[in-house]
Amino acid sequence: MDSSVDPNVPLAIGEVIRRTGVSASALHFYERKGLIFSSRDGCNQRLYARHMLRRISLIIVAKRLGVPLAELAAMFACLPQDHSPTHEDWQRMSRTWKRQLQERRRVLEDLEHELTGCIGCGCLSMKACALLNPDDTLQDQGPGPVRLQQPPRR
Ligand code: FES
Repeated sequence: MDSSVDPNVPLAIGEVIRRTGVSASALHFYERKGLIFSSRDGCNQRLYARHMLRRISLIIVAKRLGVPLAELAAMFACLPQDHSPTHEDWQRMSRTWKRQLQERRRVLEDLEHELTGCIGCGCLSMKACALLNPDDTLQDQGPGPVRLQQPPRR
């Protein structure tokens, strides 16, 4: 097997950049946030375990989906750092992520549904506010668009 594709051979940062399209500064940032890890070679250059490519790819996807990095870090916390995650490790993370994506989808659907109606934010700027949030009574339920934060109406 070509050592450049051996999953056990760590990758230099240049190879990680080439393979992911992520800049060195972004990799350093993700490392500071605890999302990825590296070791150092004899010349103090960063080396990344090849399975970090998958983490970095998931970070790219998460950013596209608007998943906060802190949320992703919490999901990555269940993955081993010292060896390549197993299929079960990825499945466990995937289940957690799936639940969070479903919740996000529900909020987006609610937002889409309520976009032209009162969201309970306290602005009282729409005719519907007088009916759905008279005198801003929804403020007792907490801050923000409380009508969007209620449990799903299913
Ligand atoms: S939309 Fe803001 S309180 Fe109704």
